[in-house]
Amino acid sequence: MKLDLLKYPDQRLSEVSAPVTRFDEELHCLLEDLAETVEAERGIGLAAPQVGRAVRVLVIDLGSQEGEEKGLREIINPRLSRGEGKIVFEEGCLSVPGVTAEVTRKARITVIYQDRSGKARKLDARGLLAVAIQHETDHLDGKLFLDRLPIVRRTLVKRRLARRAVTL
Ligand code: CO
Repeated sequence: MKLDLLKYPDQRLSEVSAPVTRFDEELHCLLEDLAETVEAERGIGLAAPQVGRAVRVLVIDLGSQEGEEKGLREIINPRLSRGEGKIVFEEGCLSVPGVTAEVTRKARITVIYQDRSGKARKLDARGLLAVAIQHETDHLDGKLFLDRLPIVRRTLVKRRLARRAVTL
């Protein structure tokens, strides 16, 4: 089932999500719904808190991006290494429609996570996949890509968004 997305400045997007402890039917159902939603919205990643579920679950599908491995990735309870190098990428977010901005992130990361059965996994990521994992993991910690912008730019973008919110 396609789920409704929370949009900035919804306060629930700023909350820290709880780890998953049960790898049961309810989790699998959430994973299916996230997959359906990200596909319908033509995003490349989606985190559970974006649909109002404050748990540490995210999905990524770089399918339409050239040169990237196809297929949906399900990532639960991710822990990221410190990472290496820098990459600047023009990011957007399904919860912040109409806004993109250049964000600087780690170019290479290692992520330790669990799959849908609770099994521990490890993934070395670089390029767009590394960016997507960092962007979605930020959602689990209540952070948006806007929060990664330099202060002046961040203030400018948030002010513009606030004005749009009142004037529609
Ligand atoms: Co996002």
